[in-house]
Amino acid sequence: MRILSIETSCDETAISIVEAEGGLESPSFKVLGNVLFSQIDIHKEYGGVYPMLAKREHAKNLPPLLKKVLTEASMFTVCDVSYSKEKWNEVEKILNREEGLYEELKSTLENVKKPDIDVISVTSGPGLAPALWVGVSCAKALGILWDIQVIPINHMEGHIASVLLNKTEAVESKIRFPALALLVSGGHTQLVNMLDWGKYEILGETLDDAVGEAFDKTARMLGLPYPGGPEISRLAERARTENLPHLAKFPRPMIHSDNLNFSFSGLKTSVLYYLRDYFSDTNSPSENEKADMAREFEDAVVDVLKSKTKKALDQTGAKTLIIAGGVIANKKIRSAFMDFEKEYSELIIRIPTNIMATDNSLMIACATYINIVLRPNVLTNIETIVADGNLRLK
Ligand code: KG4
Ligand code: ZN
Repeated sequence: MRILSIETSCDETAISIVEAEGGLESPSFKVLGNVLFSQIDIHKEYGGVYPMLAKREHAKNLPPLLKKVLTEASMFTVCDVSYSKEKWNEVEKILNREEGLYEELKSTLENVKKPDIDVISVTSGPGLAPALWVGVSCAKALGILWDIQVIPINHMEGHIASVLLNKTEAVESKIRFPALALLVSGGHTQLVNMLDWGKYEILGETLDDAVGEAFDKTARMLGLPYPGGPEISRLAERARTENLPHLAKFPRPMIHSDNLNFSFSGLKTSVLYYLRDYFSDTNSPSENEKADMAREFEDAVVDVLKSKTKKALDQTGAKTLIIAGGVIANKKIRSAFMDFEKEYSELIIRIPTNIMATDNSLMIACATYINIVLRPNVLTNIETIVADGNLRLK
């Protein structure tokens, strides 16, 4: 089965074409095409992602990326086809809120043969609603133009499914259930009990900032560019290799609470108070002092994530631990969880590669395949598909 998947939930515009086969015990994936455009350089200027700017950028990027991914998959065949006027009218109606997308999509596809694709899927939430809508509308438009079924996908299920694929091929090791997923991204921090594929129960989540958000906000306070996660990580690593003195001390919020929820806004505020109490405009922190703060911040995050995950493992008796989301690209957090192998000898630990960890459309294709295998006969009515910025896993 060939899946074309679209991801536009935040600041990455991504499209993939993946061939998927087999049962969910060991699905196989072949990547026929994969393109991604990161808007980071555009948002960097503003220190964060601006939803309306992201929306405009997605609309601009989708047609050329679509051409590129179809070309990669040898499906961009120019010939004498003509889609009916009624079809284009319908497509225009669907795209009427997405500036310029109809015109560009039409000029890209009007002489291109319908590609050999079985299903189109798109991230419908959670994420930034205006950004999500561009992808959703584009997927619906393609579904109508090509008469192909469209399936909406939960972005967080995509992050979980990211462990199934290694950029180009399926990952061999099995997932045994019940499994526990720790999802750490710019918008979410969740512990999810997975009874099986498609059966999710949120055990705990952040009560305020997501962990990636705390990285980004703390980085901003330290005068580091967006996105702050990788910047903090770089500074923290230097503090460790140079063994800089440990001066900063930050709390481990909710580490002793008896539930599985998180809170990261207090940690961020402690950095703010530390800066206010020990530094001023005329006495700003040195590079080494910033590196010390970054290390302490990262250590606090690691301690909390590890402690809550252990609690959840004990509570659920999970046989597999999946850790996914952009923040797991962080070396320190990654290695802290790899160390669980020593403590939990029976536990299967699955962490995506860095490319699969941050937002991408390959993970959306993997989640699509899971949904199709679980519910082969469910047809989604294109008209009912909507973007939902607050969509929850269930
Ligand atoms: O999953 P993702 O790509 O997008 C969302 O769904 O939110 O995650 C993005 C988040 C950002 O907050 C970014 O700063 C963080 O992941 N991130 C990192 C690292 N690389 C990306 N955080 C810590 N260390 C990193 N190396
Ligand atoms: Zn994400």
